[in-house]
Amino acid sequence: MKEVLLIVIAYLIGSVPTAVWVSKAFFGIDIREYGSGNAGATNTFRVLGPRWGTFVMAIDVIKGVIATSLYIVLPYYMTNEWDRTNLMIGLGLAAVLGHIFPIWADFRGGKGVATLFGMILAIQPLVAVCCVGVFLLVLYLTRFVSLSSILASVAFAVLILFIFRAEEPLYRAFAIAVALLVILTHQKNITRLLRGSESKVPILKYRDR
Ligand code: G3P
Repeated sequence: MKEVLLIVIAYLIGSVPTAVWVSKAFFGIDIREYGSGNAGATNTFRVLGPRWGTFVMAIDVIKGVIATSLYIVLPYYMTNEWDRTNLMIGLGLAAVLGHIFPIWADFRGGKGVATLFGMILAIQPLVAVCCVGVFLLVLYLTRFVSLSSILASVAFAVLILFIFRAEEPLYRAFAIAVALLVILTHQKNITRLLRGSESKVPILKYRDR
């Protein structure tokens, strides 16, 4: 029962629509009406500049870390590693769903990447660092944030399934779910990538959709 309450709190934390609130509070615009229309760090970077983009990214990552770490309020989970991982996956995914469908912003949020990263950072920091490496490499080579996000999420699944060879079925399913979720939330980006019309970074400020 306490676990369910924590999962609800994790969803509410993930729901904090950082990009939407920043754009409304400091610029009097709704970020979802500009750039790619996404309420995430990349679009904030694109529309409002690197400083605000970095700020939004940091908060969105922290949301994932905090929500996934909520288990610490239940002493039982401090000593039971596998149960703890299960709960962390539940908490983290609730936060990611909150980020994508935020209750505080008409259920129209971001694509979940920064919050997913925060979640992975809390569960397996080493794997998170490897994923950042893949992300940065693809970004350096292509300058497409979306493609970098997709390939980093696929790298996460490959790392968990084939390099770290996780044996727990739930953890394996989680690894696959992460890659599928990111591919799912990037469908428009994939279409644009295939058409050759996807934006690269950096992009001019206040560019209309
Ligand atoms: O994390 C979101 C990023 O991968 C793509 O964002 O604004 O280019 O659709 P955007």
